[in-house]
Amino acid sequence: MASIAELKALLVFLVTIASTLFLVKSANTNKVYSPCLDTTVQVSDAFTFAIAFSATKSFYFNSSLELSPCDRRLDLTSQNSQISVFRPKVDEISLLTINTSSFSPSNYGGYMVAFAGRKYAARSRPAFVANGTYTVTSFTLVLEFKKGRLQNLYWKRDGCAKCSGNSNFVCLNNQDCALRTTSCKPQGSVDCSLGIQLAFSGTDKHFSALNSWYEVQNLRQYSLYGLYSNLRDSLTSQYNKIF
Ligand SMILES: *[C@@H]1O[C@H](CO)[C@@H](O)[C@H](O)[C@H]1NC(C)=O
Ligand SMILES: *[C@@H]1O[C@H](CO)[C@@H](O)[C@H](O)[C@H]1NC(C)=O
Ligand SMILES: *[C@@H]1O[C@H](CO)[C@@H](O)[C@H](O)[C@H]1NC(C)=O
Repeated sequence: MASIAELKALLVFLVTIASTLFLVKSANTNKVYSPCLDTTVQVSDAFTFAIAFSATKSFYFNSSLELSPCDRRLDLTSQNSQISVFRPKVDEISLLTINTSSFSPSNYGGYMVAFAGRKYAARSRPAFVANGTYTVTSFTLVLEFKKGRLQNLYWKRDGCAKCSGNSNFVCLNNQDCALRTTSCKPQGSVDCSLGIQLAFSGTDKHFSALNSWYEVQNLRQYSLYGLYSNLRDSLTSQYNKIF
């Protein structure tokens, strides 16, 4: 028969194992929550970045120098702009959504830039989202890291393959499938909320390769929406109706 002391020791041992397993599973070591600070990450960390909506010219200082929205010289806060902050898990494919029922990108200049970091600031090129004529709802954003530090953010386009031949879509600049803004709510019936598929590439701070980008490359357009059951009805079924 085990003594009380032995049972206690066993209990402590089991609790330690359980909490270790729990920590290993969900460990986040990144304490940086601001998109305007620098950090380095490892697989399983969460990472904060943001997307700013404004007119293209707001993202340039003195009409020529493309700066991060974190850079005070841009003075985005005094421009007509909106910022959304996200904190996805590193190396997990995520689908971010921006509900446009109470926020219309075309009212805020119609372009967006993804960004993070201060001294090591990275920002994407401005991407067209919407104006009075066209609305683009589907994007893929690649976050590229080197030794855990964000190097680059870029919008990955796959041409207009997924909408060619579909009269509900218009192919803009041979790169974006756009809906007519008049078919978007509230004028039309389509929920034109934005869906941004995230993918990670490069290496984390332990030189582990970030692979989610390779998985996204192999996913078919809109397939990710099917993984998010709460979005399936609001985003895919309407596309199914259109297709
Ligand atoms: C803005 O650009 C103009 C022309 O390129 C240049 O002469 C001027 O010095 C720049 N101003 C600042 C504040 O950098
Ligand atoms: C956006 O919000 C509206 C109102 O709350 C809701 O009806 C709609 O389903 C939402 N769309 C998405 C894509 O979540
Ligand atoms: C909307 O954007 C498209 C594509 O950039 C452009 O061709 C069109 O002229 C714009 N329409 C308006 C009303 O700004």
